[in-house]
Amino acid sequence: MSIIEKNISIKNYNTFAINAYADLFAAFNSIENLKELLQSQQQIINNRKNSILILGGGSNLLFTRNFDGLILKNEIKGIKIIKEDEHHIYIQAGAGENWHQFVLFCIEHNLAGVENLSLIPGNVGASPMQNIGAYGVEIKDVFHSLEAYHIHDKKMVNFTLNDCEFGYRESVFKKKFKNEFVIMDVTFRLNRIPNFNISYGAIGQELEKMGVKDLSLQAVSQAVINIRSSKLPDPAVIGNAGSFFKNPEISGSQFAILSSKFPGIVGYDLPNGNVKLAAGWLIEQCGWKGYRKGDAGCHEKQALVLVNYGHATGTGIYDLSEEILQSVNAKFGVELEREVNIV
Ligand code: FAD
Ligand code: EPU
Repeated sequence: MSIIEKNISIKNYNTFAINAYADLFAAFNSIENLKELLQSQQQIINNRKNSILILGGGSNLLFTRNFDGLILKNEIKGIKIIKEDEHHIYIQAGAGENWHQFVLFCIEHNLAGVENLSLIPGNVGASPMQNIGAYGVEIKDVFHSLEAYHIHDKKMVNFTLNDCEFGYRESVFKKKFKNEFVIMDVTFRLNRIPNFNISYGAIGQELEKMGVKDLSLQAVSQAVINIRSSKLPDPAVIGNAGSFFKNPEISGSQFAILSSKFPGIVGYDLPNGNVKLAAGWLIEQCGWKGYRKGDAGCHEKQALVLVNYGHATGTGIYDLSEEILQSVNAKFGVELEREVNIV
Protein backbone atom coordinates (compact mmCIF):
# COMPACT_ATOMS: atom_id res chain seq x y z
CA MET A 1 0.00 0.00 0.00
CA SER A 2 1.10 3.59 -0.57
CA ILE A 3 2.64 5.43 2.34
CA ILE A 4 0.34 7.91 4.06
CA GLU A 5 2.35 10.93 5.13
CA LYS A 6 1.22 13.00 8.09
CA ASN A 7 1.06 16.77 8.56
CA ILE A 8 2.88 17.67 5.35
CA SER A 9 3.23 21.01 3.59
CA ILE A 10 1.37 21.09 0.28
CA LYS A 11 3.19 24.19 -1.00
CA ASN A 12 4.77 22.19 -3.84
CA TYR A 13 1.45 20.60 -4.75
CA ASN A 14 -0.49 23.76 -5.59
CA THR A 15 0.50 26.26 -8.30
CA PHE A 16 -0.51 29.20 -6.06
CA ALA A 17 2.35 27.94 -3.83
CA ILE A 18 0.28 28.45 -0.69
CA ASN A 19 2.01 26.94 2.31
CA ALA A 20 -0.94 25.03 3.76
CA TYR A 21 -0.68 21.66 5.53
CA ALA A 22 -2.54 18.41 5.02
CA ASP A 23 -3.26 16.13 7.98
CA LEU A 24 -2.79 13.12 5.70
CA PHE A 25 -1.37 12.83 2.19
CA ALA A 26 -0.86 9.89 -0.18
CA ALA A 27 -0.52 9.21 -3.89
CA PHE A 28 -2.16 6.34 -5.80
CA ASN A 29 -1.49 4.89 -9.24
CA SER A 30 -4.14 2.18 -9.64
CA ILE A 31 -7.70 1.43 -8.64
CA GLU A 32 -6.52 -1.26 -6.17
CA ASN A 33 -4.15 1.25 -4.62
CA LEU A 34 -6.98 3.82 -4.28
CA LYS A 35 -9.36 1.27 -2.73
CA GLU A 36 -6.77 0.25 -0.14
CA LEU A 37 -6.14 3.86 0.84
CA LEU A 38 -9.85 4.62 1.14
CA GLN A 39 -10.41 1.42 3.12
CA SER A 40 -7.68 2.38 5.59
CA GLN A 41 -9.39 5.73 6.23
CA GLN A 42 -12.98 4.43 6.23
CA GLN A 43 -13.67 5.87 9.67
CA ILE A 44 -12.79 9.45 8.70
CA ILE A 45 -14.79 9.09 5.48
CA ASN A 46 -17.89 7.84 7.32
CA ASN A 47 -17.69 10.43 10.10
CA ARG A 48 -17.06 13.56 8.11
CA LYS A 49 -18.22 14.97 4.78
CA ASN A 50 -15.52 16.32 2.45
CA SER A 51 -12.71 14.61 4.37
CA ILE A 52 -11.08 13.50 1.09
CA LEU A 53 -9.63 15.81 -1.54
CA ILE A 54 -8.53 14.41 -4.89
CA LEU A 55 -5.54 16.28 -6.24
CA GLY A 56 -4.22 16.54 -9.79
CA GLY A 57 -1.65 19.21 -10.64
CA GLY A 58 -3.07 21.63 -8.05
CA SER A 59 -3.46 24.37 -10.68
CA ASN A 60 -7.07 25.31 -9.98
CA LEU A 61 -7.15 25.30 -6.19
CA LEU A 62 -6.77 27.93 -3.48
CA PHE A 63 -6.10 26.62 0.03
CA THR A 64 -7.45 29.12 2.57
CA ARG A 65 -6.86 26.68 5.47
CA ASN A 66 -4.96 23.58 6.39
CA PHE A 67 -6.70 20.47 5.11
CA ASP A 68 -7.83 18.35 8.07
CA GLY A 69 -8.44 15.20 6.08
CA LEU A 70 -6.73 13.04 3.46
CA ILE A 71 -5.39 14.46 0.20
CA LEU A 72 -5.09 11.78 -2.46
CA LYS A 73 -2.90 12.62 -5.43
CA ASN A 74 -4.03 10.86 -8.59
CA GLU A 75 -1.03 9.43 -10.44
CA ILE A 76 -2.77 6.97 -12.74
CA LYS A 77 -0.80 6.87 -15.97
CA GLY A 78 -1.22 5.46 -19.47
CA ILE A 79 -2.34 6.65 -22.90
CA LYS A 80 -3.83 4.13 -25.33
CA ILE A 81 -5.91 3.94 -28.49
CA ILE A 82 -9.11 2.08 -27.71
CA LYS A 83 -11.14 2.43 -30.90
CA GLU A 84 -10.82 3.73 -34.46
CA ASP A 85 -13.28 4.53 -37.21
CA GLU A 86 -13.16 6.32 -40.53
CA HIS A 87 -13.01 9.83 -39.06
CA HIS A 88 -11.98 9.41 -35.44
CA ILE A 89 -9.51 7.83 -33.09
CA TYR A 90 -10.56 7.26 -29.49
CA ILE A 91 -7.78 7.73 -26.96
CA GLN A 92 -8.02 6.85 -23.30
CA ALA A 93 -5.68 8.68 -20.93
CA GLY A 94 -5.05 8.03 -17.25
CA ALA A 95 -6.19 10.84 -14.92
CA GLY A 96 -2.63 11.39 -13.70
CA GLU A 97 -1.21 12.14 -17.14
CA ASN A 98 -0.05 15.73 -17.55
CA TRP A 99 -2.52 17.59 -19.80
CA HIS A 100 0.02 19.34 -22.01
CA GLN A 101 2.01 16.10 -22.51
CA PHE A 102 -1.25 14.50 -23.63
CA VAL A 103 -1.81 17.36 -26.11
CA LEU A 104 1.74 16.87 -27.45
CA PHE A 105 1.11 13.12 -27.81
CA CYS A 106 -1.99 13.87 -29.93
CA ILE A 107 -0.11 16.36 -32.11
CA GLU A 108 2.80 13.93 -32.63
CA HIS A 109 0.32 11.27 -33.76
CA ASN A 110 -1.51 13.70 -36.07
CA LEU A 111 -4.67 13.62 -33.99
CA ALA A 112 -6.62 16.87 -34.10
CA GLY A 113 -8.91 18.60 -31.66
CA VAL A 114 -6.84 19.58 -28.62
CA GLU A 115 -4.16 21.78 -30.23
CA ASN A 116 -5.92 24.99 -29.06
CA LEU A 117 -5.74 23.65 -25.51
CA SER A 118 -1.94 23.55 -25.48
CA LEU A 119 -0.06 24.53 -22.34
CA ILE A 120 -3.02 24.46 -19.94
CA PRO A 121 -1.49 23.33 -16.64
CA GLY A 122 -2.76 20.35 -14.68
CA ASN A 123 -3.69 16.77 -15.38
CA VAL A 124 -6.07 14.88 -17.66
CA GLY A 125 -8.27 13.83 -14.71
CA ALA A 126 -9.21 17.40 -13.84
CA SER A 127 -9.89 18.45 -17.44
CA PRO A 128 -13.59 17.46 -17.29
CA MET A 129 -14.04 19.03 -13.83
CA GLN A 130 -14.50 22.48 -15.31
CA ASN A 131 -14.60 21.54 -19.01
CA ILE A 132 -11.28 23.29 -19.59
CA GLY A 133 -11.26 25.72 -22.47
CA ALA A 134 -9.12 28.18 -24.35
CA TYR A 135 -8.99 29.93 -27.71
CA GLY A 136 -12.43 28.85 -28.90
CA VAL A 137 -12.24 25.16 -27.90
CA GLU A 138 -13.47 23.28 -24.80
CA ILE A 139 -12.84 19.65 -23.92
CA LYS A 140 -16.53 18.89 -24.41
CA ASP A 141 -15.76 19.25 -28.16
CA VAL A 142 -13.53 16.16 -28.07
CA PHE A 143 -14.82 14.38 -24.97
CA HIS A 144 -16.18 10.84 -25.38
CA SER A 145 -16.54 9.38 -21.86
CA LEU A 146 -14.84 8.91 -18.50
CA GLU A 147 -14.65 6.36 -15.73
CA ALA A 148 -14.96 7.51 -12.14
CA TYR A 149 -14.97 5.72 -8.78
CA HIS A 150 -17.66 6.70 -6.29
CA ILE A 151 -15.99 7.13 -2.90
CA HIS A 152 -19.03 6.17 -0.79
CA ASP A 153 -20.82 3.64 -3.05
CA LYS A 154 -17.47 2.02 -3.90
CA LYS A 155 -18.52 1.58 -7.52
CA MET A 156 -17.01 2.49 -10.86
CA VAL A 157 -19.37 4.62 -12.98
CA ASN A 158 -19.11 5.44 -16.68
CA PHE A 159 -20.05 9.00 -17.68
CA THR A 160 -20.98 9.90 -21.27
CA LEU A 161 -20.86 13.40 -22.72
CA ASN A 162 -24.49 14.05 -21.72
CA ASP A 163 -23.97 12.72 -18.18
CA CYS A 164 -21.24 15.31 -17.52
CA GLU A 165 -23.56 18.30 -18.18
CA PHE A 166 -20.66 20.40 -19.42
CA GLY A 167 -21.06 24.17 -19.47
CA TYR A 168 -18.69 27.13 -19.48
CA ARG A 169 -16.10 26.10 -16.82
CA GLU A 170 -18.73 23.72 -15.37
CA SER A 171 -19.65 20.04 -15.09
CA VAL A 172 -21.54 17.79 -12.68
CA PHE A 173 -18.24 17.13 -10.90
CA LYS A 174 -17.64 20.77 -9.95
CA LYS A 175 -20.91 21.32 -8.01
CA LYS A 176 -23.60 18.60 -8.05
CA PHE A 177 -21.22 15.68 -7.34
CA LYS A 178 -18.51 17.76 -5.65
CA ASN A 179 -15.93 15.52 -3.90
CA GLU A 180 -17.99 12.36 -4.59
CA PHE A 181 -16.11 10.84 -7.52
CA VAL A 182 -12.51 10.08 -8.33
CA ILE A 183 -12.03 10.44 -12.09
CA MET A 184 -9.79 7.54 -13.14
CA ASP A 185 -9.43 7.95 -16.90
CA VAL A 186 -10.89 10.01 -19.73
CA THR A 187 -11.55 8.96 -23.33
CA PHE A 188 -11.29 11.58 -26.05
CA ARG A 189 -12.54 11.39 -29.64
CA LEU A 190 -9.85 12.97 -31.80
CA ASN A 191 -10.17 13.80 -35.49
CA ARG A 192 -8.06 12.24 -38.22
CA ILE A 193 -8.58 15.32 -40.41
CA PRO A 194 -8.05 18.63 -38.60
CA ASN A 195 -10.86 21.15 -38.50
CA PHE A 196 -8.73 24.14 -37.51
CA ASN A 197 -10.36 26.69 -35.23
CA ILE A 198 -8.51 29.97 -35.49
CA SER A 199 -11.58 32.13 -34.90
CA TYR A 200 -10.01 33.64 -31.77
CA GLY A 201 -8.46 36.84 -33.13
CA ALA A 202 -5.11 36.56 -31.39
CA ILE A 203 -4.35 33.15 -33.00
CA GLY A 204 -4.63 34.49 -36.55
CA GLN A 205 -2.41 37.45 -35.67
CA GLU A 206 0.18 35.20 -34.04
CA LEU A 207 0.24 32.78 -37.00
CA GLU A 208 0.85 35.73 -39.30
CA LYS A 209 3.64 36.98 -37.06
CA MET A 210 5.15 33.48 -37.16
CA GLY A 211 5.00 33.57 -40.98
CA VAL A 212 2.87 30.42 -41.15
CA LYS A 213 1.45 29.82 -44.65
CA ASP A 214 0.04 26.30 -44.28
CA LEU A 215 -1.85 25.54 -41.10
CA SER A 216 -0.73 22.51 -39.13
CA LEU A 217 -1.44 21.15 -35.67
CA GLN A 218 2.08 22.11 -34.60
CA ALA A 219 1.71 25.68 -35.88
CA VAL A 220 -1.63 26.28 -34.12
CA SER A 221 -0.26 24.74 -30.93
CA GLN A 222 2.85 26.94 -31.11
CA ALA A 223 0.76 30.07 -31.73
CA VAL A 224 -1.32 29.29 -28.63
CA ILE A 225 1.84 28.62 -26.60
CA ASN A 226 3.31 31.97 -27.72
CA ILE A 227 0.18 33.94 -26.81
CA ARG A 228 -0.20 32.24 -23.45
CA SER A 229 3.47 32.69 -22.55
CA SER A 230 3.27 36.40 -23.38
CA LYS A 231 0.60 37.22 -20.84
CA LEU A 232 -0.02 34.43 -18.36
CA PRO A 233 2.43 34.17 -15.47
CA ASP A 234 4.38 30.90 -15.28
CA PRO A 235 3.42 29.27 -11.95
CA ALA A 236 7.01 28.05 -11.57
CA VAL A 237 7.99 31.73 -11.27
CA ILE A 238 4.90 33.47 -9.81
CA GLY A 239 2.22 31.50 -7.97
CA ASN A 240 -1.21 31.60 -9.63
CA ALA A 241 -4.14 29.43 -10.74
CA GLY A 242 -4.96 31.04 -14.09
CA SER A 243 -8.16 33.09 -14.34
CA PHE A 244 -9.42 33.58 -10.83
CA PHE A 245 -12.95 34.54 -11.93
CA LYS A 246 -15.20 33.42 -14.78
CA ASN A 247 -16.20 35.83 -17.52
CA PRO A 248 -19.74 36.84 -16.48
CA GLU A 249 -22.77 36.43 -18.75
CA ILE A 250 -25.33 39.23 -18.85
CA SER A 251 -28.45 39.92 -20.94
CA GLY A 252 -28.21 41.80 -24.24
CA SER A 253 -30.29 44.65 -22.79
CA GLN A 254 -28.04 45.01 -19.74
CA PHE A 255 -25.05 45.07 -22.10
CA ALA A 256 -26.64 47.89 -24.13
CA ILE A 257 -27.06 49.97 -20.95
CA LEU A 258 -23.49 49.28 -19.80
CA SER A 259 -22.03 50.06 -23.27
CA SER A 260 -23.65 53.48 -23.33
CA LYS A 261 -22.17 54.26 -19.92
CA PHE A 262 -18.79 52.56 -20.56
CA PRO A 263 -18.09 52.73 -24.32
CA GLY A 264 -14.90 50.61 -24.16
CA ILE A 265 -16.56 47.63 -22.43
CA VAL A 266 -15.53 44.27 -23.96
CA GLY A 267 -18.29 41.72 -24.60
CA TYR A 268 -18.86 38.73 -26.87
CA ASP A 269 -22.31 37.88 -28.26
CA LEU A 270 -23.59 34.44 -27.28
CA PRO A 271 -26.04 32.36 -29.38
CA ASN A 272 -28.75 32.77 -26.67
CA GLY A 273 -28.75 36.57 -27.08
CA ASN A 274 -26.75 37.14 -23.90
CA VAL A 275 -23.29 38.70 -23.82
CA LYS A 276 -20.16 37.35 -22.15
CA LEU A 277 -18.15 40.17 -20.59
CA ALA A 278 -14.35 40.18 -20.36
CA ALA A 279 -13.90 40.14 -16.58
CA GLY A 280 -10.26 41.19 -17.05
CA TRP A 281 -11.48 44.48 -18.55
CA LEU A 282 -13.94 45.13 -15.69
CA ILE A 283 -11.22 44.45 -13.10
CA GLU A 284 -8.68 46.61 -14.91
CA GLN A 285 -11.18 49.49 -15.08
CA CYS A 286 -11.57 49.29 -11.31
CA GLY A 287 -7.84 50.01 -11.03
CA TRP A 288 -6.68 46.58 -9.82
CA LYS A 289 -4.29 45.59 -12.62
CA GLY A 290 -0.76 45.43 -11.20
CA TYR A 291 -2.06 46.05 -7.66
CA ARG A 292 -0.10 44.40 -4.84
CA LYS A 293 -0.87 44.11 -1.13
CA GLY A 294 1.87 42.25 0.69
CA ASP A 295 2.57 39.23 -1.50
CA ALA A 296 -0.98 38.98 -2.90
CA GLY A 297 -1.55 40.75 -6.18
CA CYS A 298 -3.40 41.21 -9.43
CA HIS A 299 -1.14 40.34 -12.38
CA GLU A 300 0.29 43.30 -14.30
CA LYS A 301 -0.37 41.78 -17.75
CA GLN A 302 -3.68 40.00 -17.10
CA ALA A 303 -6.04 41.44 -14.49
CA LEU A 304 -8.09 38.24 -14.30
CA VAL A 305 -5.15 36.38 -12.78
CA LEU A 306 -4.43 36.79 -9.06
CA VAL A 307 -0.89 36.04 -8.01
CA ASN A 308 1.26 35.07 -5.05
CA TYR A 309 4.58 36.91 -5.16
CA GLY A 310 6.08 34.61 -2.51
CA HIS A 311 4.58 34.28 0.91
CA ALA A 312 0.94 35.26 0.45
CA THR A 313 -1.56 33.23 2.45
CA GLY A 314 -4.66 31.66 0.95
CA THR A 315 -6.83 34.05 2.95
CA GLY A 316 -4.73 36.99 1.71
CA ILE A 317 -5.49 35.99 -1.90
CA TYR A 318 -9.13 35.25 -1.07
CA ASP A 319 -9.62 38.62 0.69
CA LEU A 320 -8.14 40.42 -2.33
CA SER A 321 -10.56 38.50 -4.60
CA GLU A 322 -13.43 39.62 -2.37
CA GLU A 323 -12.36 43.29 -2.62
CA ILE A 324 -12.15 42.97 -6.41
CA LEU A 325 -15.53 41.29 -6.60
CA GLN A 326 -17.15 44.04 -4.49
CA SER A 327 -15.60 46.86 -6.48
CA VAL A 328 -16.67 45.39 -9.85
CA ASN A 329 -20.17 45.00 -8.48
CA ALA A 330 -20.22 48.58 -7.18
CA LYS A 331 -18.98 50.09 -10.47
CA PHE A 332 -20.77 47.90 -13.05
CA GLY A 333 -23.55 46.13 -11.13
CA VAL A 334 -22.05 42.82 -12.34
CA GLU A 335 -21.44 39.90 -9.97
CA LEU A 336 -18.22 37.98 -10.62
CA GLU A 337 -18.06 34.26 -9.84
CA ARG A 338 -14.82 32.59 -8.76
CA GLU A 339 -13.50 29.96 -11.17
CA VAL A 340 -10.84 28.61 -8.83
CA ASN A 341 -11.88 25.90 -6.33
CA ILE A 342 -11.64 27.32 -2.82
CA VAL A 343 -10.65 24.93 -0.02
P1 FAD B 1 -6.37 20.46 -9.49
O1 FAD B 1 -6.11 21.90 -9.27
O2 FAD B 1 -5.50 19.48 -8.82
O3 FAD B 1 -7.88 20.15 -9.08
C1 FAD B 1 -8.92 20.99 -9.52
C2 FAD B 1 -10.25 20.43 -8.98
O4 FAD B 1 -10.50 19.16 -9.56
C3 FAD B 1 -10.23 20.19 -7.47
O5 FAD B 1 -11.52 20.41 -6.98
C4 FAD B 1 -9.86 18.71 -7.35
O6 FAD B 1 -10.34 18.13 -6.16
C5 FAD B 1 -10.54 18.12 -8.57
N1 FAD B 1 -9.86 16.97 -9.16
C6 FAD B 1 -8.60 16.96 -9.71
N2 FAD B 1 -8.34 15.75 -10.23
C7 FAD B 1 -9.44 14.97 -9.99
C8 FAD B 1 -9.78 13.62 -10.29
N3 FAD B 1 -8.94 12.79 -10.94
N4 FAD B 1 -10.98 13.16 -9.88
C9 FAD B 1 -11.84 13.97 -9.23
N5 FAD B 1 -11.59 15.25 -8.94
C10 FAD B 1 -10.40 15.75 -9.31
N6 FAD B 1 -8.14 26.43 -17.16
C11 FAD B 1 -8.84 26.50 -18.30
O7 FAD B 1 -9.95 25.94 -18.42
N7 FAD B 1 -8.35 27.19 -19.37
C12 FAD B 1 -7.17 27.81 -19.35
O8 FAD B 1 -6.77 28.41 -20.34
C13 FAD B 1 -6.41 27.75 -18.15
N8 FAD B 1 -5.22 28.39 -18.06
C14 FAD B 1 -4.50 28.33 -16.91
C15 FAD B 1 -3.27 28.98 -16.85
C16 FAD B 1 -2.50 28.93 -15.70
C17 FAD B 1 -1.17 29.64 -15.67
C18 FAD B 1 -2.94 28.19 -14.59
C19 FAD B 1 -2.10 28.09 -13.36
C20 FAD B 1 -4.20 27.55 -14.62
C21 FAD B 1 -4.98 27.62 -15.78
N9 FAD B 1 -6.24 26.98 -15.88
C22 FAD B 1 -6.95 27.03 -17.05
C23 FAD B 1 -6.78 26.26 -14.73
C24 FAD B 1 -6.26 24.81 -14.60
O9 FAD B 1 -5.11 24.61 -15.36
C25 FAD B 1 -7.32 23.79 -15.02
O10 FAD B 1 -8.49 23.96 -14.27
C26 FAD B 1 -6.82 22.35 -14.86
O11 FAD B 1 -7.73 21.46 -15.47
C27 FAD B 1 -6.64 21.95 -13.40
O12 FAD B 1 -6.00 20.68 -13.40
P2 FAD B 1 -5.27 20.13 -12.12
O13 FAD B 1 -4.90 18.71 -12.39
O14 FAD B 1 -4.18 21.03 -11.70
O15 FAD B 1 -6.45 20.16 -11.06
N1 EPU C 1 -8.72 42.32 -20.88
C1 EPU C 1 -8.43 43.58 -20.37
N2 EPU C 1 -7.53 43.67 -19.36
C2 EPU C 1 -6.91 42.60 -18.83
C3 EPU C 1 -7.21 41.31 -19.34
C4 EPU C 1 -8.13 41.20 -20.37
O1 EPU C 1 -8.97 44.56 -20.82
O2 EPU C 1 -6.10 42.78 -17.92
C5 EPU C 1 -9.71 42.21 -21.98
C6 EPU C 1 -9.07 42.47 -23.36
O3 EPU C 1 -9.99 43.18 -24.12
C7 EPU C 1 -8.96 41.07 -23.96
C8 EPU C 1 -10.14 40.36 -23.32
O4 EPU C 1 -10.25 40.92 -22.02
O5 EPU C 1 -9.04 41.12 -25.33
C9 EPU C 1 -9.99 38.86 -23.21
O6 EPU C 1 -8.73 38.57 -22.60
P1 EPU C 1 -7.97 37.18 -22.87
O7 EPU C 1 -7.95 36.88 -24.32
O8 EPU C 1 -6.69 37.21 -22.13
O9 EPU C 1 -8.94 36.12 -22.25
P2 EPU C 1 -9.71 36.08 -20.86
O10 EPU C 1 -11.17 36.27 -21.14
O11 EPU C 1 -9.11 36.96 -19.86
C10 EPU C 1 -10.22 33.54 -21.08
C11 EPU C 1 -10.18 32.34 -20.19
C12 EPU C 1 -8.76 31.80 -20.14
C13 EPU C 1 -8.35 31.38 -21.54
C14 EPU C 1 -8.42 32.61 -22.45
C15 EPU C 1 -8.17 32.25 -23.89
C16 EPU C 1 -11.93 32.52 -18.55
C17 EPU C 1 -12.31 32.80 -17.15
N3 EPU C 1 -10.64 32.67 -18.87
O12 EPU C 1 -9.45 34.55 -20.47
O13 EPU C 1 -8.76 30.64 -19.31
O14 EPU C 1 -7.05 30.85 -21.55
O15 EPU C 1 -9.74 33.19 -22.38
O16 EPU C 1 -9.25 31.53 -24.40
O17 EPU C 1 -12.80 32.15 -19.34
C18 EPU C 1 -8.53 29.92 -17.04
O18 EPU C 1 -9.69 29.51 -17.13
O19 EPU C 1 -7.82 29.77 -16.02
C19 EPU C 1 -7.94 30.62 -18.19
C20 EPU C 1 -6.71 31.14 -18.18
